[in-house]
Amino acid sequence: MSNSPDSKPEEMESFFETRASGYDEHMKNNVESFEELYDKVSQPIESTEEVIEILDLGCGTGLELAGILKRAPNSLITGIDLSEKMLKILENKYSKFMNQITLIKDSYTTYPFNKKKYDYIVSVMTMHHWLEGEKLDLYKKINSALKDKGKYIEGDYVTSKEEEKQFLLRYKEKIKLLDKKKIYHIDIPMTEEKQVRLLKEAGFKEVEVIHRANENRIFVAIK
Ligand SMILES: C[S@@+](CC[C@H](N)C(=O)[O-])C[C@H]1O[C@@H](n2cnc3c(N)ncnc32)[C@H](O)[C@@H]1O
Repeated sequence: MSNSPDSKPEEMESFFETRASGYDEHMKNNVESFEELYDKVSQPIESTEEVIEILDLGCGTGLELAGILKRAPNSLITGIDLSEKMLKILENKYSKFMNQITLIKDSYTTYPFNKKKYDYIVSVMTMHHWLEGEKLDLYKKINSALKDKGKYIEGDYVTSKEEEKQFLLRYKEKIKLLDKKKIYHIDIPMTEEKQVRLLKEAGFKEVEVIHRANENRIFVAIK
């Protein structure tokens, strides 16, 4: 979900609070190969009846959870998101599963994760707002929250080297005027190559790109 490059940045939380009610419809109509993306994002999760632990960063209304729950129907899922309204929609959609879903209204950048707790950590369409150093720190935190051989699955959009520079220039112009302690909805997507490099730098042993549709990618990183 992006806004026009020249629009005034909104704080992340209020950006999604304002758009929560039309969010799913917007995504269905605007995300390239929507069904395929949300279906494929759960595929690295091995089908199991066991009680496994999954963390979903920026879970929003839970679009990715349908596929995840099909593959791991007894999984314990923790979803973390800044937007109360997005979480409320998730809760209503997945009311039958709320005995196995824990929702946390907070920022995954600062919220502490337990070490070696999760079998899988997932993020979809939420990581394109972080600078290289911030993302590297986040990937290290994700890596240490995974069990040995655990998998991090990221669905997001990438960009070309040239456009990456433009996004970054616009970001720097905008952020100059803003409070750096707050989180804003400003897109700064990276190239696929940089994403892979950062995941490896964060300590993941193997990184694979399992889906490419226009600018959308799914990365799978194994601890
Ligand atoms: C485009 S939505 C994606 C939601 C869901 N993963 C999906 O694919 O439909 C991005 C979500 O990330 C959340 N988000 C962004 N930055 C966050 C942060 N620092 N901590 C927690 N949630 C965040 C937003 O509130 C929003 O619900």
